[in-house]
Amino acid sequence: MITKEKSINIKFEDFIHTKENEDLFGKAKRVSDVLSTGVLTGNEGLGMQIMNKVCPESTIKEKDGIEHSVIMLGSNSYLNLSSHPKVIEAAIQATIKYGYGMGAVSNYAGITPIHRELELNIADFYETQDCIVFPSGYGTNTGVISALCNKGDIIINDSANHASIFDGCKLSGAEIKVYPHGEMKYLEKILEKIPDNQTGRLIITDGVFSMDGDLAKLDKIYELAQKYRCRIMVDDAHGLGVVGSNGRGTAEQFGLLGKIDLNVGMLSKGPGGLGGYCAASKEIVQYLRLYARSYFFSTAIPAPVAAGLNEVFKLLKEDKAGRLKLIENTVYLKQLLLEKGFDIGHGQSAIVPVMVYNEEVLFKLYDELRKSGVYVNIVTYPAVRRKECRLRLCVMKDLTKEQIKRAVDIIYEIGKKYNITHLKTS
Ligand SMILES: Cc1ncc(COP(=O)(O)O)c(C=O)c1O
Repeated sequence: MITKEKSINIKFEDFIHTKENEDLFGKAKRVSDVLSTGVLTGNEGLGMQIMNKVCPESTIKEKDGIEHSVIMLGSNSYLNLSSHPKVIEAAIQATIKYGYGMGAVSNYAGITPIHRELELNIADFYETQDCIVFPSGYGTNTGVISALCNKGDIIINDSANHASIFDGCKLSGAEIKVYPHGEMKYLEKILEKIPDNQTGRLIITDGVFSMDGDLAKLDKIYELAQKYRCRIMVDDAHGLGVVGSNGRGTAEQFGLLGKIDLNVGMLSKGPGGLGGYCAASKEIVQYLRLYARSYFFSTAIPAPVAAGLNEVFKLLKEDKAGRLKLIENTVYLKQLLLEKGFDIGHGQSAIVPVMVYNEEVLFKLYDELRKSGVYVNIVTYPAVRRKECRLRLCVMKDLTKEQIKRAVDIIYEIGKKYNITHLKTS
């Protein structure tokens, strides 16, 4: 029997392995026992429901059934495209014509002309020859990496890359090297040591890092990749539509549009839909269609989603999705948070971390902020190291200045109570 006191020191990773003499499902029972003690574990808010189209003031339904309004600072739909009228209308029309699901994998009659139009739209956006759209973002990373890399190859990762990248690396069987986040010196040290005959080399980086909101040093990575004959893959999930002079992402920001080998991104964040893509050469796309198992063995995204995404790319291409308003809101939010003394890191995107450094406090903040009318996500292990735990604020284009100010005032009042203002700047 686990008491409330005992459960405080219990950690996420305690429930990964089956204990000696334990039934395979025993760990699930142990988790259940801990959660039933009612101790704050950070799970209290998980699984709540959103009761409307995601928007700056959304209604959420807590697990106990209580519904209330929150200022939404926890959505990756930065540009509010998931509820854009033109996007919704396109999705409705496609539902009428093609139905709501595909019923087949892409290679076996699971795609419509709308799907192919989407791939060509994305290829054009990145100035590549072709593009392949996967059913999920997670599956894009696991599929692309495990298709192209294998035993004998080497993959070099930034330590802050997304979990799906690391999972893809593990799945590939390739040798995996990791350099500390953003440390180009260490990246070069790894590259120097690769034996000459190990020629299958891939550097992978997030474009915008999903937990810190900062950008990869893509200019330097590109230079090193040239010098050491490596291919480059960029996961620009959080850069698409947000970063770069026309919103074409981190590659555009560094003048490298058309020069990245594997332009991976997610259709679930800025575009507000579902799926992921890899824009690359014709040969690589063709190869991925055959060898990426998360593509070959998984049903295509529904036509209504593909149709909505085509509208999204129209808006993105014309830079009419509201990027500048999003940037204005982000600058305003950061300015207010800095004025209040919060440690917000060095992000250059619509992701704004508010460092907390104490998991117990983090869980309390999550609960109190939500109940006081502000929804923010929390991030701790396994997404980041526990001692670097933080609130993760996501800005949306449609937030008003008044809503941003109101949210910061609430975060400040509650943050003050837990001494998370005026923490050291990392
Ligand atoms: C950088 C990055 N890559 C990949 C993914 C996975 O994308 P999806 O949620 O569309 O599966 C995410 C989502 O959390 C992400 O932040």
